[in-house]
Amino acid sequence: MLDVQNLTIEYTTAAGPLRAVEDVSFTLQRGESLGIVGESGCGKTTATRALLRLLPKNGAITAGRILFDGDDLVRKSDAEIRRLRHRHIALISQSAMNALNPVYTVGEQIKEGIRAHTRMSDQEARARCVEVFGLVGLEAKRLDSYPHQLSGGMKQRAVIAMALSLEPEIIVADEPTTALDVVVQGRILQRLRQIRERISSSMIFITHDISVVGESCETIIVMYGGRIMERADTRSFFRAPAHPYSMGLQNAFPSIADIGHADLVSIPGSPPDLLAPQPGCRFRARCPFADADACQTRTPPLLQVADRHWAACWYTDQAAGFRARARDHATWRKAAADGR
Ligand SMILES: Nc1ncnc2c1ncn2[C@@H]1O[C@H](COP(=O)(O)OP(=O)(O)OP(=O)(O)O)[C@@H](O)[C@H]1O
Ligand SMILES: [Mg+2]
Repeated sequence: MLDVQNLTIEYTTAAGPLRAVEDVSFTLQRGESLGIVGESGCGKTTATRALLRLLPKNGAITAGRILFDGDDLVRKSDAEIRRLRHRHIALISQSAMNALNPVYTVGEQIKEGIRAHTRMSDQEARARCVEVFGLVGLEAKRLDSYPHQLSGGMKQRAVIAMALSLEPEIIVADEPTTALDVVVQGRILQRLRQIRERISSSMIFITHDISVVGESCETIIVMYGGRIMERADTRSFFRAPAHPYSMGLQNAFPSIADIGHADLVSIPGSPPDLLAPQPGCRFRARCPFADADACQTRTPPLLQVADRHWAACWYTDQAAGFRARARDHATWRKAAADGR
């Protein structure tokens, strides 16, 4: 349904062009749930907002195609894209809770969205609002509340209800629950899963919490420095990550099933400066297994390592050995100390 090909996005900044997303390709099937993970600043929000052409003014798609049911969204007019947003591809944005308009009740806002995209009568739209509020576990009487009268968790659920109200083919959820406490987070994620199954939407789920991907998504993309490092069937990924960066991320979660929640941390060092891209692999400076040859000079393409599993590493044939060594935190500390 969605086929993103070689997407590259640049921001114009005072310090020069910043390539936030480079050569990103992936597909999304009907009903599929895709998780995107990676440290802060690696391009997750940029890549997904571009799908709805919601980039800030200084951001532009400089290469690539975004095929939605065969049509290239990069080439569509603004008016065409506006018709598509919300109705066919809905975004629950990272700052979703601030997205509600304080001067209207949440019910009015959701209804307005429905009526802008459909021919529903006022009454029908109201009935739909009640229905989607029910889906996210909010009482119908809350439709008449103003945003400031709702708790953080309720506001977030209202925003999710709004995204669901037109039963879009694709829901893009950009860290939809990070502002919430763990219990509420868990409940909302569970509900999102149920809803997705019921209305059979596809979902792109961005998160810092790799365990959520394990529980909720069939496929995973790991981004680093604007590029895809690994793309895989979730099961295959958790069984045998093939990129050292993914191994480092998973290392932060000794037992994903037990922990439930944690953030992406613990690989020493920090992501690369996107204003001054270096040749070679983006991850090489922090990679315990990088060599002075290929890794320094040539950017690895995504190479297939198993069925529905690709990694952008020159040494995927040595992944099993890397995995064993990656489990030892000393391996990572040594790479950092070497200052590679
Ligand atoms: N409007 C902007 N102008 C210039 N640079 C930007 C802009 N928005 C984002 N960037 C830069 O683009 C890169 C990718 O940012 P993006 O927000 O897509 O990352 P992210 O993976 O979503 O991070 P986070 O996990 O913190 O949300 C970063 O280096 C960021 O500083
Ligand atoms: Mg983001």
